Formats: sequence, structure tokens, C-alpha cells
Amino acid sequence: MKTLITEMFGIQHPIIQGGMHYVGFAELAAAVSNAGGLGIITGLTQRTPEALAAEIARCRTMTDKPFGVNLTFLPTVSSPDYPGYIKAIIEGGVKAVETAGNNPQKWLPALHEAGVKVIHKCTSVRHALKAEAIGCDAVSVDGFECGGHPGEDDIPNFILLPRAAESLKIPFVASGGMADGRSLVAALALGAEGINMGTRFIATQEAPVHEKVKQAIVDASELDTRLVMRPLRNTERVLRNAAVDRLLEKERALGADLKFEDIIEEVAGVYPRIMLEGDMEAGAWSCGMVAGLIHDIPTVKDLIDRIMREAEGIIYRRLAGLGHT
Ligand SMILES: Cc1cc2nc3c(=O)[nH]c(=O)nc-3n(C[C@H](O)[C@H](O)[C@H](O)COP(=O)(O)O)c2cc1C
Repeated sequence: MKTLITEMFGIQHPIIQGGMHYVGFAELAAAVSNAGGLGIITGLTQRTPEALAAEIARCRTMTDKPFGVNLTFLPTVSSPDYPGYIKAIIEGGVKAVETAGNNPQKWLPALHEAGVKVIHKCTSVRHALKAEAIGCDAVSVDGFECGGHPGEDDIPNFILLPRAAESLKIPFVASGGMADGRSLVAALALGAEGINMGTRFIATQEAPVHEKVKQAIVDASELDTRLVMRPLRNTERVLRNAAVDRLLEKERALGADLKFEDIIEEVAGVYPRIMLEGDMEAGAWSCGMVAGLIHDIPTVKDLIDRIMREAEGIIYRRLAGLGHT
């Protein structure tokens, strides 16, 4: 399937694996790229630019296909060494960067100079238009369903994607709630040039996370996520567990007085404990509503092949057949 996104990134299928903290290691990125999608290494999971350079080199030993790096621009005061990470990406020969969080404008000249295509992840049409205006090559439009940070507008993809299609000139992929061939065809129908998936890719054989994390996603339904940190305007969609219940109770009790320090135990530094050690009650971890559509733990290649087979079946049989009754 050829779309503006497959052409832009030199990939076979219009499927991107979004950056995921403590999930997007070389193993997953390489598996996605080898299966014809665009795998993404999560930049900030690597603690230093040197570690990111090593992870990029490790990924190169596992695939000769294009892969990308996610750089999340955090709203924190003590900023990570972004110039160092950008340098590692460019010197590592990576040609695709997924940016997220704050405005990436400052970094675009250096990336474009090195021939890197930049896809910025946005949760609103106004941020997508801003990304277009500053020169991003594409955007990933993340609906309210998504795992991770859905923003504060709460617009689901059935509205957000066609609104993006009405407004944008640059290509975009649909992100949030994407799981299968049905999602891909729906995304294309709504104007997207492909899909970006997070949660679905965690429940795969190659995702280098603890088996308990994969099983928790398979066991969860679409009713099992919660929004945390809303009072801090840093909303995150996470899988419900005891730590999340405790966190929400603190949010209720403290109301407008809530500060980040009050919930630090439930959110800070919990990812390695959950993803690597399988300590499922350690804290809040991102998970999309799409968990309700995830019932198995296939290999990445089986998942991507199945999505493409299913999508083509819907397009060429079900939809094409509707005109011939
Ligand atoms: C466990 C997890 C960690 C994530 N970490 C990041 C991150 O570090 N940076 C980022 O830009 N997005 C992150 N995301 C968001 C994903 O890249 C993607 O946009 C989102 O998962 C799409 O929604 P879906 O889960 O419904 O597919 C994360 C998502 C999950 C589920």
C-alpha cells in the first residue's frame, strides 16, 4: 500500500510504532521496521546521548530498513541534553524523527539539514497547524483515546481526524485507538495517510517488556484506563491499578492544591520497575483504550501482515462490493 507516508519514510506499509518510554528499545523498533513499518527508538529512555548513539548502532545490527527516534520535549525545568540527542540522531544516520511535547521548531533546521524527516505528534488541530507552519514534514494526530498524553481538549479521533484533514496541507497519520485492519481503513477514510500505534505494539512477542505487562493489556477492556494528572494540565491515560486509584484519591482530596510532589510516588521513575521487572502495582503507566481490542500477543510481523491483509480485504471486498448489489 503506497501513501504519502510510506513514500516520505521509505517504508512498505503505512504503520508507525510511536515512541514509548521503556518499551521503544532497538528490539521493538527493528522488529517493526523489518516487518515493513517504521519502528521508533524512544530517545529519552536512553539516559544520555551516548547511550542513544549506542542504541541506534545496536538497532542497525538488527535491521537494514529505515527506523526513527522519538524525542519528547518535556515541560520540565531541568531539560535533558537535547543538543546531544539531536547530534546522536544525525550522526547515527537516522532519517526519521518523531517529536512530541513542546514545540520542536528550534531543532528543525539541524534535522532538515541532515535530511531527517520530522513527524510531530499533536493532540489538537491548532497544534498540528502550528507544526505545519514551522516546517514539520508530517504530523501524528493523537486522539483522546490514546495511551500516554491526550492533551486537554478531549476530542476523539472520529472528529479530530477529519478536522485535521480539513485544515492541514502536510500528510498526517492517525494515532490513538489503532489496532487492526479496520482501524487502518477507517483512518484512511477519515483523511489520514497511515496509522501510528502504541499500546498494540506492546502486546507483541518482540516488545522487550515483562510478560506481565503484555498480559495486563490482553486482560484489560476498553473500560480499564483512567486519566491522571488532569489538575496539573499534564493529563495521562494510564491502565487502572491500585497506584492509580491512590493517585486519583489524592487528586480528589487535594483539589486545586495538588502539586506534582504530592503524587511523585505514583508517577516518578516507575517505568523501569513496571516494564522491565513486571512490578504491576509500582505506579501509573500509559495505556490506551484500545486495550479493549487487543486479545493476543503475536509477533510484530504477524500483527502487521494481519493488519494489511484485513485492510485490503475490507477495501477490495467489503467496500468495493457495496456498489454491486
Ligand atoms: C507505555 C507507553 C509509553 C509512551 N511513551 C511515550 C513517550 O515517551 N513519548 C511519546 O511521544 N509518546 C509516548 N507514548 C504515546 C505513543 O507514542 C502513542 O502516541 C500512543 O500510544 C498512541 O495511542 P494508542 O496507545 O492508543 O495506540 C507512550 C504510550 C504508551 C502506551
